[in-house]
Amino acid sequence: MLKLFNTSFRNPVFLASGVFGFGLKYKRVTNSVGAFFTKGVTLEPRKGNPPPRIYETPSGLINWVGLENPGVEVFCTHVLPQLKKLRTKIFVNVAGSYLNDYERIINMIGNEVDGFELNISCPNVEKGGAAFGQDAHVAASIVARVRKCTTRPLIVKLTPNFCDPREIARGCVDAGADGISLINTVYALAYDVHKKQPLIKGGLSGPAIKPFALFCVNRVKDCGVPVIGMGGIMSGQDAYEFLLAGASAVAVGSAVLRDPYAPLQIIKELKGFMGKPR
Ligand SMILES: Cc1cc2nc3c(=O)[nH]c(=O)nc-3n(C[C@H](O)[C@H](O)[C@H](O)COP(=O)(O)O)c2cc1C
Repeated sequence: MLKLFNTSFRNPVFLASGVFGFGLKYKRVTNSVGAFFTKGVTLEPRKGNPPPRIYETPSGLINWVGLENPGVEVFCTHVLPQLKKLRTKIFVNVAGSYLNDYERIINMIGNEVDGFELNISCPNVEKGGAAFGQDAHVAASIVARVRKCTTRPLIVKLTPNFCDPREIARGCVDAGADGISLINTVYALAYDVHKKQPLIKGGLSGPAIKPFALFCVNRVKDCGVPVIGMGGIMSGQDAYEFLLAGASAVAVGSAVLRDPYAPLQIIKELKGFMGKPR
């Protein structure tokens, strides 16, 4: 049993946002992990981006899914009742295009879930499209506003792109965040050499980003709140490396796209590592 943010988790292996949708399939897996993070929920429904949405690289994948989701209203009426039947902790990943989207979404969901993860990697429409999470002041102001709306654990998910995660984490913690999760995907581009034009511009995940993710986790480890580490975790050993780097828990993402049952093996293997003296 793991205790973080005054919440008990059955183990330190969580399911990262976006790779298992709303968790209604593979319930054996969702019911075995410590926590399930939903895909991003936005204020309005989003159809997502046109194909190609996923592109495989030698050691990871680039995705440009575009936050496809039914919007918070349908989420509350249709998805939430199903999610609440899962036997794990549920964190809703919240995404916004405008500063006040985050508050509005969280106010609509209320205390129906175990906590929230703020995805601040989204483009800030008001400020010309840079990610909210690339500016410590903007990130902190989202947290401060949302903090007033909920007493539930508030985790802020950091982008690793073109910013120092330590600066951003400090701003978020000062503004009332209970936890930090990182890393979100890394900016990436792939070319179609026949058409001589970009094939996909999106976020890289998977084993290719693990060393960078470990570096980022280690960089924020002293931010004063628990850190959830993710990025390329494919095995129990990978997960253990994140704990050694300073994470209190880990989240598995792309690994489930290769094998939906991967988290079960990772939990088992990690137990073996945690039993060993350091
Ligand atoms: C297909 C796909 C969809 C994702 N959707 C979201 C999302 O909705 N919100 C979010 O915060 N992160 C999202 N992520 C990022 C993951 O949660 C995770 O931070 C990232 O992929 C790094 O972990 P990994 O290398 O284990 O996949 C998504 C990743 C993938 C591959």
